Amino acid sequence: MISIIIPTYNEKANIPILSRRIRGALNGEAYEVIFVDDSTDDTPAVLAEISGRYPEFRYIHRERETGLATAVIRGFEEAKGEILAVMDADLQHPPELLTEMLASIQRGAELVLPSRFLSGGGDKGLRFHRKVVAKGARLIAQLALKRVRRVTDPMSGFFMLRRHVLHGIEWNPIGWKILIEILVKGQYSSVAEIPYEFQQRQGEQSKMSLREQINYLRHVYRLVRNSPEDRRLFMFLLVGLSGVAVNLFSFGILYSITRFSALWSGFLSSLFAMTSNFLLNDTFTWPGDKLGSAIVRYIKYVLISTVGIGVNLVTLYLLHSRFGVNALASNAIGIAVATGWNFGMNSIWTWRE
Ligand code: GDD
Ligand code: MN
Repeated sequence: MISIIIPTYNEKANIPILSRRIRGALNGEAYEVIFVDDSTDDTPAVLAEISGRYPEFRYIHRERETGLATAVIRGFEEAKGEILAVMDADLQHPPELLTEMLASIQRGAELVLPSRFLSGGGDKGLRFHRKVVAKGARLIAQLALKRVRRVTDPMSGFFMLRRHVLHGIEWNPIGWKILIEILVKGQYSSVAEIPYEFQQRQGEQSKMSLREQINYLRHVYRLVRNSPEDRRLFMFLLVGLSGVAVNLFSFGILYSITRFSALWSGFLSSLFAMTSNFLLNDTFTWPGDKLGSAIVRYIKYVLISTVGIGVNLVTLYLLHSRFGVNALASNAIGIAVATGWNFGMNSIWTWRE
């Protein structure tokens, strides 16, 4: 059986049309529809009417709680199906796609995500400023969270999954984006994406707000903190930034107070920064059990960083001198590539995990 969970907040005009289209699309399938409603208007009356008429439709009305993510989790708890789907009530997610999503699950996908950003898809249903905000939000999640990088539309509220994907998840969402919570914490290996056109909203207004956007940032931060692999990269970058500060500060001291030349001051402050980075990474980025002695780890770290400088310079040279890319941009890309090299090599060699 498929359980379709639909969070609703003041959507009375959309519910009858949505219900009709779901019945049309899933005609012949075994399914149930669970509305999780936090409305403050008379949407519950519409839901009562629908669920009185069609036994496969039911609803829960929450009095004391609101919030999109917790509404979806409540729906998961109530659902009886082996296959679970989540979609919005405002017809921006076309119900007709449910059959295609189901077929993809039956072919073996554990998680199916309709995507606005695959070729053939689109998001004409969003206004321009929402598109910009959404793109920024997506970028933040994809930089911060490795498992979010695998998919093109992680911000969506439209997806289908096998129940086992949720097995053992300790829910801790804030706000709206239940899907990133599932992407980061779920048990799955095969994800399928299907392009679709995000429709214009019907009836009422979007419930998205600045408050939800701030909640979103808190949610991503919380996920990063609790996901070991993502926390490591985040810490590594933070330590790298602290190294820049150590370098500048010690250069200032060495050069202006002691009588070292600029070159010697530069050399020594690089050494200080590298050493402080090593100690911070050894303590905070890879806090677990350590292999071998600290001296060996330090030597490995210094070797990797030294090659890292080479990686930076080679990238800079290739981009700038060979391909004519602007020098500053080439160096920035060089730094990014070298940081990737340093992080990757240290993860597998210095602090093998
Ligand atoms: N139960 C419940 N409680 N439902 C809610 C709540 C709430 O506090 N807030 C919103 N909803 C319901 C709405 O009634 C609708 O069915 C669905 O959640 C999405 O809300 P919209 O107001 O339509 O949001 P949106 O269209 O701006 O955002 C949607 O698209 C985004 C992609 O651009 C959502 O699916 C987002 O999650 C998605 O990122
Ligand atoms: Mn909507």
